[in-house]
Amino acid sequence: MLFDPRPKSTREELFDREGELERLRKAVDEMKPMIALTGVRRIGKTSVLKVFLNEVDVPYVLVDARSLPPNYGLRDLYSVFSSGMSRKGFVEGMKDVLKVVKGLKIAGFEVELSWKGRDAISLSVLFDYLNMRRVIIAVDEAQCFRGPRGRIFLDALAHAYDYDDNISFILTGSEVGLLYEYLGVDNPTSPLYGRSLEAIVLERFT
Ligand SMILES: Nc1ncnc2c1ncn2[C@@H]1O[C@H](COP(=O)(O)OP(=O)(O)OP(=O)(O)O)[C@@H](O)[C@H]1O
Ligand SMILES: [Mg+2]
Repeated sequence: MLFDPRPKSTREELFDREGELERLRKAVDEMKPMIALTGVRRIGKTSVLKVFLNEVDVPYVLVDARSLPPNYGLRDLYSVFSSGMSRKGFVEGMKDVLKVVKGLKIAGFEVELSWKGRDAISLSVLFDYLNMRRVIIAVDEAQCFRGPRGRIFLDALAHAYDYDDNISFILTGSEVGLLYEYLGVDNPTSPLYGRSLEAIVLERFT
């Protein structure tokens, strides 16, 4: 259905993005820790990401950072990660890992992370658990993590970059300047300073 206005999720529906899909596959095969998929609005970032994740044989978490409210709080942040894990394929594939995580509850295919109280879990600890398997953590529109709480994801990402070899992060962004400024790989005050980022840019069709 070529006129479907929503993001595509299968290769048959996706027009001419073989090169980008191949670059994503290669970066993931090479266990690259952090991959940025950028391009202007409506260029097909979410579609390419979904088609890739649909085809790859690795459990993945897909977080839609754009669904966060402005000035989001910890509860909102944990809620997008919980939703990102609440998928049949992920829960089934990761069940034996997920069931030992303190601060994570599973009901059917719904995952709920504890964000406060005695059993609250930090994102770094969550990533350390997920790292027991090969996993992809994809964040669509990751620059939407910016804000007063923006540092929480960045710290956890920097931790996972350094310690969790089995996790590859794929971060998309329609505002490439904001995304790179947020990640701050060139900024000595950022936890991600000096880390490498595999950049894939979706260009307009000619
Ligand atoms: N290569 C493609 N083949 C077919 N349809 C496409 C392709 N790329 C994008 N589209 C269509 O264009 C629209 C925008 O795609 P998509 O939502 O994936 O882009 P995006 O870059 O994530 O957009 P946004 O910046 O709004 O998040 C959708 O209707 C999608 O189905
Ligand atoms: Mg999108």
